[in-house]
Amino acid sequence: MELIQKQRPHAVCVPLPAQGHINPMLKLAKLLHSKGFYITFVHSEFNLLKLMKARDYAHPSVENFQFETISDGLPPDNPRGILDLPSLASEIQVDGLNSFRELIKKLNDSSPRLPPVSCIVADGVMSFCMQAAKEIDIPGITFFTVSACGMLGYLQYDHLIEKGYFPLKDESCLSNGYLDTKIEWTPSMGGIRLRDLPTFLRTTNPDDIMFNYNNQCVKNVLKTGSLILNTFEDLEQEVLDVLKTKFSNVYTIGPLSMLWEKLCGPKLESIEASLWEGDERCLEWLDSKEPRSVLYVNFGSLVIMTPRQLSEFACGLANSKYSFLWVIRPNLVDGGSIVISQDFLEEIRGRGLILDWCPQEKVLRHPSVGGFLTHCGWNSTLESISYGVPMICWPFFAEQQTNCLYICTQWGIGMEIDTNVERQEVEGLVRELMEGKLGIEVREKIEELKKRADRATEPGGSSYVSFELLIENLTGKNA
Ligand code: UDX
Repeated sequence: MELIQKQRPHAVCVPLPAQGHINPMLKLAKLLHSKGFYITFVHSEFNLLKLMKARDYAHPSVENFQFETISDGLPPDNPRGILDLPSLASEIQVDGLNSFRELIKKLNDSSPRLPPVSCIVADGVMSFCMQAAKEIDIPGITFFTVSACGMLGYLQYDHLIEKGYFPLKDESCLSNGYLDTKIEWTPSMGGIRLRDLPTFLRTTNPDDIMFNYNNQCVKNVLKTGSLILNTFEDLEQEVLDVLKTKFSNVYTIGPLSMLWEKLCGPKLESIEASLWEGDERCLEWLDSKEPRSVLYVNFGSLVIMTPRQLSEFACGLANSKYSFLWVIRPNLVDGGSIVISQDFLEEIRGRGLILDWCPQEKVLRHPSVGGFLTHCGWNSTLESISYGVPMICWPFFAEQQTNCLYICTQWGIGMEIDTNVERQEVEGLVRELMEGKLGIEVREKIEELKKRADRATEPGGSSYVSFELLIENLTGKNA
């Protein structure tokens, strides 16, 4: 028995400590566990404390699954929101690597019952972990939690600098139409506008931390030759064909929610890592609504908007007369507290529900939900496809702009709201999505994509097979 346990493959899974990265990595970790892996899932020290404080939190004891921590390099009082991403990017590379090396040593030295660490699966933006894998000569592979189209966008950065597109000459380039310049993209799509690329390029500073951090991470991953993506062949075929000319192995194992449901079922459901507690009351509220009658509104874990934008969304939603479930994170609004007027609450009584955070996948799967107003985070996008819910898109930053382009123009499963949001536009698009001709078209298209995602994650489907190949790679069977 002891011997068998010692021989068990042991994967150390390391997400970037942010919700949109933790969720897909946790699903992958559970999938590996279902294939017999011992899992060490690595949180940042700060996040583990936050998880424990947020509720009466204790990790359920599941055999062969444990949680460990590393430092993210930031002081405890740093709020770790979107404005602090540059500090996180600078600190974690140094502190994180040292702390990670110590963790690996501890895992290998401390417990005679623990199988030795046999592989490392790290987030694409935690690519320093690959160095640790190299040092102890075990397989290491990166999981970029973005879309393939977003990944292709990041891969353009060096080329665009060479061509002189970036850094921007001055701030006026952000508003004078410069970002509408087209550059080459995939064969059938021809060009793509600079504004559709991941937004870290929008800087005049050649030393911009976020730009350089992302660019360096992509280069590190290119060196390893392999990449895991949460997408499926049938969704991003053409972009994947381009990526496959740059990487020798691209494991497309998405949508992870679907693969996970099929391979793991309800097993391990008790293991979750939501940094905010999901308010389950919304499910009962949804039960009381007609099928497809509710618009779900959620801008993910990092977006911040101005008080004016919040107010335009609020008025547009109220004026649409549709029911809506709106998640307003306590830190959603820039530089201040969120003020929701009594008049507004009175106006939406019975048809509008506002919460801090919700169990998103349960909401999207609920039959009363008919549309999703989203920031186009990649997890939200794939979850929407997995449950067949068409989208209204308000991309904010990173590769959300690229996702939005694909959602609205390539896959035809959503409609875009202008960055400078106006209440009339919100009202009009909500009506169009919920009852208009275009709404019917986008719904038909997303239902078709959902079927394709379902096929991809069934035995023999592209994501299913890709996951099996990944296991072979991680266990050294195809080395
Ligand atoms: C983002 C995006 O992943 C990515 O596009 C970008 O590069 C930077 O990070 P985030 O803003 O959190 O992350 O969005 P998203 O990718 O959609 O992930 C949010 C996750 O939190 C989803 O899995 C969603 O189901 C979950 N969530 C969100 C909840 O469970 N409840 C909520 O109320 C909101």
